[in-house]
Amino acid sequence: MEKKDLQQFRAWFDSYIAGFYGDDEYVNTNLKLKEDHTRRVCQETSCLAEALRLGDANMLIAATIALLHDVGRFEQFVVHRTYNDPRSENHCLLGLSILKKHDVLAPLDQPMRQIVETAIRVHGEKELEGDLDERTRLFARLIRDADKLDVYRVVLDNFKRFEAGGDECLVEREFPNEPTCSAPVVSAVLNGEMIAYSEIKTANDFKLLLIGWVYDINFCQTLARIRERLYLAQLLARLPRTTEMMEVGKCIFKYVDERIEDGE
Ligand SMILES: [Fe+2]
Repeated sequence: MEKKDLQQFRAWFDSYIAGFYGDDEYVNTNLKLKEDHTRRVCQETSCLAEALRLGDANMLIAATIALLHDVGRFEQFVVHRTYNDPRSENHCLLGLSILKKHDVLAPLDQPMRQIVETAIRVHGEKELEGDLDERTRLFARLIRDADKLDVYRVVLDNFKRFEAGGDECLVEREFPNEPTCSAPVVSAVLNGEMIAYSEIKTANDFKLLLIGWVYDINFCQTLARIRERLYLAQLLARLPRTTEMMEVGKCIFKYVDERIEDGE
């Protein structure tokens, strides 16, 4: 893959998404959220790829995956007016069918195209499937980490805007803002397990789900960024100040510190 291929993908992406903006401000605002998310994930990916010393050739592939990972989001919102996959359709698979329809990845040879398509397909899965080859796995792990870094930021921005008296809190619209945390959710975080989305009953459970994502973070370089930006501390600060939550905090910071220390 060459630099000019990435430039071609960028040009295609810009003109493809431009076509979705129209007269409906509600739709435009939501499209812009995903456009901005994509651009920041590209940025996170390039910083992580550099920290991991992936090399120029791999950088181009990682950049392509970051640029196109959420390409399905635009049609998804225009057609279904939601980003909720179970209530509409799987945005990863939709993205792949769009890339196929427009023959976007034609400049890539078959093995390269396979890597890009697979990374896009699995980026939104709850956990990464086990049977990927080593190279594909590297790129899949990278996009999953870069994506999570930006989701932390988006959710926290949403909380902060809401607290400052701005627009409504999207998290609390989706889940009741009760002062409780569900027992299975708390025990999953304390046991180092990923939380199933189906267990989420309250806005607090959702915050714990995001905290528990650290168990699915692949690179200690990503964890270092999460720690540096205080994402976990900011989520914990928005949970009830109970002994149980203090325990969660202790456990999660210990986990993150140890992994960064071990360099894994
Ligand atoms: Fe996505």
